[in-house]
Amino acid sequence: MANEGKKLTKTSKTSTKPHRIVVTSALPYANGSIHLGHLVEYIQTDIFVRFLKLTGKNAIYCCADDTHGTPIDIKAKQLDIKPEKLIEKFWKEHTKDFKDFHIEFDSYYSTNSKENKEYAEFIYNELRKKDLIYTKAMQLVYCEHCKRFLPDRFVKGTCPECKAKDQYGDVCEKCGNAHKTTDLINPKCTICDGKPIEKESTHYFFKLSKCKAQLIKFLQKKTLQKEVVNFCLNWIEKLEDWCISRDAPYFGFEIPNSEKETGSPKFFYVWLDAPVGYISSTANYCKNIAKKGSEKDYWMPKNKEESEIIHVIGKDIVYFHYLFWPAMLENAGIKQPDKIITHGFLTVGKEKMSKSRGTFIEARHYLKYLNPQYLRFYYAANLTSKMEDIDLDIADFKTRVNTELIGNLGNFGYRTISFLNKNFDNKIGEFDVEDKKVQKIINEFTETAVKIRKNYHDFEFREVIKDILHLGSLGNKYFQDSAPWALLKGTKEEKEQAHKILSFCFHLLKNLGIIISPIMPKFAEKLHKQLNLKDLSWDDIHFDMKTHKINKGEILVKKIEDEVKKMIQENAPQDAESKNKKEKSENNTDSEFILDLRVAKIESVEDHPDADRLYVVKIHLGKEKRQLVAGLKKYYSKEDLTGKKVVVVTNLEPVRLKGVKSEGMMLAAEKKKDVVVLEADESKIGDQVYVEGISLPKKFSTITFDDFLKYKMKVKYRKVFLVGNEEADKVKFLKTKHEEIKANINDNAKVC
Ligand code: 2FM
Ligand code: ZN
Repeated sequence: MANEGKKLTKTSKTSTKPHRIVVTSALPYANGSIHLGHLVEYIQTDIFVRFLKLTGKNAIYCCADDTHGTPIDIKAKQLDIKPEKLIEKFWKEHTKDFKDFHIEFDSYYSTNSKENKEYAEFIYNELRKKDLIYTKAMQLVYCEHCKRFLPDRFVKGTCPECKAKDQYGDVCEKCGNAHKTTDLINPKCTICDGKPIEKESTHYFFKLSKCKAQLIKFLQKKTLQKEVVNFCLNWIEKLEDWCISRDAPYFGFEIPNSEKETGSPKFFYVWLDAPVGYISSTANYCKNIAKKGSEKDYWMPKNKEESEIIHVIGKDIVYFHYLFWPAMLENAGIKQPDKIITHGFLTVGKEKMSKSRGTFIEARHYLKYLNPQYLRFYYAANLTSKMEDIDLDIADFKTRVNTELIGNLGNFGYRTISFLNKNFDNKIGEFDVEDKKVQKIINEFTETAVKIRKNYHDFEFREVIKDILHLGSLGNKYFQDSAPWALLKGTKEEKEQAHKILSFCFHLLKNLGIIISPIMPKFAEKLHKQLNLKDLSWDDIHFDMKTHKINKGEILVKKIEDEVKKMIQENAPQDAESKNKKEKSENNTDSEFILDLRVAKIESVEDHPDADRLYVVKIHLGKEKRQLVAGLKKYYSKEDLTGKKVVVVTNLEPVRLKGVKSEGMMLAAEKKKDVVVLEADESKIGDQVYVEGISLPKKFSTITFDDFLKYKMKVKYRKVFLVGNEEADKVKFLKTKHEEIKANINDNAKVC
């Protein structure tokens, strides 16, 4: 900042050490959208890194998309695209979402990168050299229909302990018992509903049990959260070796020589190469962004004190970051984290985020209604360094934004700037340094800024906000008590006095802008722009600007009216009756039936130019015509399909399948190797298809393929019903106002 003059106060000198700091957030999976739950962590980390940079620290924020694993492989297959395409789409979506919430990464990379492969293999080879890797044959659950081994979350069955039905392969949600997938009674593949078998496969294991002493030493680091360490010390007693490989098909890195060593190709388990993404993202920063230095300066410095590694994670992934990851690093000769900040989950109104209540809010949905800075402010106001859940209380959110952010800070800013604009030709003069009130405020401000600096550093953002608001109140009170508006009406001296008051307020405002900038960077930028200042650092918190000219003021942030309510309502419009029904039902979908299913007539069928299994189908929906891509070539000739009245999901977001646009999806039912389309030959083109007793939204919104997958539909008596909505033995079938939908296939065929 261009300003001379004696500095009255200094809060603390910024650092100029060459010490390098890398800060990370957990890598989001590349198969789903960012939601408000995710944003807690990215906002928390972003605030911290911005603070470090503001105080002159050499810090970078590195993250990446977590791109590997079975769910990504399966989703890509369902969409009939390459996993590379899927992860590319999510990378773009995620980076845009983060940017729009003012989350500023120095590197946002991908775990499906060359550097990540190299580091994953490097770590694996180092562990092998230390004799920490071995192979072992295991019995696993395998689906012959899907031709894949099934991870825990892809098998459901009866709990071997309490006999609760419909439990996942790893743990029973009813009794909490942890079990093996092979122990489930009556297991079912969740992809095809078929009965899996047991099959043997040889896998790689990391001898974690040998790392106990190392890990106990790691957990003694004073910088780790005590409550988490205690938790981990309990686990350490029962530390088992960790299986780090998975069978094909898998989207990930193939383990070198695995086919030779185990009889079939094996891939690194996603959790092996995911944290390696922290290193490869740092490599990306050095090589492609800063174009200087090396990731080794951070992760393998000559002297461990030269760098600092700080991870921010959620409480669900403690195990990986406090045990597996430090053990991998230590044995590969890489520096372990210096600090791991573990936060709790986001609840909305003290409850888990819920789709049916409309509180499962995606980042993009929020942005349609509200300013991202409100969320940054609110999260900061609730975040501590403890592993506590943070609650988004909707009423509190609105009140705090309107009264604290706008009523307190915004108001002080607007009042000060507009008074200077209107009465003093935008000019700042000297304030009265001898004034006792002024001196008292300067002292209090300076002491509080020191406290705030420490709290930022310690991730105590709730305290930071409290203190910022206190400083804002000091400013407002000074303004109010000094009543410059009255002095402006008085003598020349009184007018001068008013100018001094406002010039002092200007200093308070400038300093407040600096202090709040890690939390609300755009707010601070806008404020400083009005004050005709830029590129301020923590060292610019002082009271010694003598002459300056500001710009014109305008409202800094707008009040919240009814946007929050709208945002939630429009996230899950539903009436009370359907909500009750939903809660009774076992189906895990929303209470409303959000699929806009319509009867369509097939007008023509052509071969897909680039895919053997696919047809390009032209349909008539009554009011409009559309084109679909359907994988029906194996089951129907073009002639058989043409003229049929079928059921189409019309509100799916359009996709390109092998380069051809598909504007919806024709429903079919599948069992074993049989596939039939759902038919409605007695209905009118464009007829709505629905389920008796389940309400439809007033207006259908566009849905994702994931939304569609939440509805399980099956066949019974050659008709189709929605699983989970059976009441006693009375099954409710899909219908139009003219007939029930037909599926000429055996019972239990699955609609897809
Ligand atoms: O739990 C998750 O969402 C993981 N994708 C987090 C990975 S963090 C890191 F280890 F890569
Ligand atoms: Zn299957």
